[in-house]
Amino acid sequence: MSAVDAALSERWALILGGSDGLGAAFADDLAGRGAHCLLVARNHDKLAATAQSISSRHNVSVQTLSLDLGDTDAVERLADATDSMDLGLVVFNAGAESSGHLFADAPFDEWRNVTDRNIGFLTEALHHFSQRFVKQGRGALLIVGSEAALGGGARAALYTASKAYALNLGESLWAELQPFGVAVQTLLFKIADTPMLRSVLARKGIPVEATGAVSPESLARATIDALFDGPVFNFDEEAGGAPSTTAAGRRARVNDTSAKLEGFYKV
Ligand SMILES: NC(=O)c1ccc[n+]([C@@H]2O[C@H](COP(=O)([O-])OP(=O)(O)OC[C@H]3O[C@@H](n4cnc5c(N)ncnc54)[C@H](OP(=O)(O)O)[C@@H]3O)[C@@H](O)[C@H]2O)c1
Repeated sequence: MSAVDAALSERWALILGGSDGLGAAFADDLAGRGAHCLLVARNHDKLAATAQSISSRHNVSVQTLSLDLGDTDAVERLADATDSMDLGLVVFNAGAESSGHLFADAPFDEWRNVTDRNIGFLTEALHHFSQRFVKQGRGALLIVGSEAALGGGARAALYTASKAYALNLGESLWAELQPFGVAVQTLLFKIADTPMLRSVLARKGIPVEATGAVSPESLARATIDALFDGPVFNFDEEAGGAPSTTAAGRRARVNDTSAKLEGFYKV
């Protein structure tokens, strides 16, 4: 059994945005490695169908929780749901923003929904589970990011900005938490065949095959295999694509920055 599988097997994995697409693929992969799964999303019926499908194929427990991660009490509700579980992993998957709206065109409430989930919730939940995992001396945090984190672009202002936030936060936590036995990994990739992607493509009649989208199953498997190889797993780099940066380069930069900040702040 691999070190990753040994750390996950017979423990619970919390998958945020686990009812379809990449989140469901993560849950299925984790269940195949022997992890019990708690799936969180808003739509109850989608959650129930995914839980049923995973339970029918794997001999693990699967539970669901219907919750909007942008709600102000979301972290409290997740803490209540997981406090008594032997928790080994949290997957921060929900995070797409696919409106394509220009920043100045949309009402601010639309952007607040994105920042509430992708920045406010992400930060508070990472803080909660970091403290919990440090206390128990083990655990893993997986942040599903995007290649969009590496630069801005019109029609994706809040999306790229929030993914850049997640990338920097994830890299810093990787450096801070590894002495406590807690793994942090941030996934970067270009495009995956999810229901969200298909709904965007359908607006313009573009076939998914024309996009080079990878299967959520292969992406999930490769990412979990690389869970302990943080701070970043750049899927397209590993697949021979054209990344804007390399995992090794980012790792060296994080180590260098962390060493400088240690010298700057530590009294
Ligand atoms: N698909 C791509 O090509 C692509 C490319 C790069 C990065 N990514 C990243 O990969 C991740 C997954 O993307 P995706 O395409 O599968 O779409 P997504 O909308 O980020 O994820 C879908 C899942 O998240 C749940 N969800 C969405 N908003 C939620 C909320 N406020 N509260 C609770 N659950 C919520 C959905 O269920 P409900 O709707 O029922 O809540 C569903 O289970 C995202 O972080 C995205 O940024 C995707």
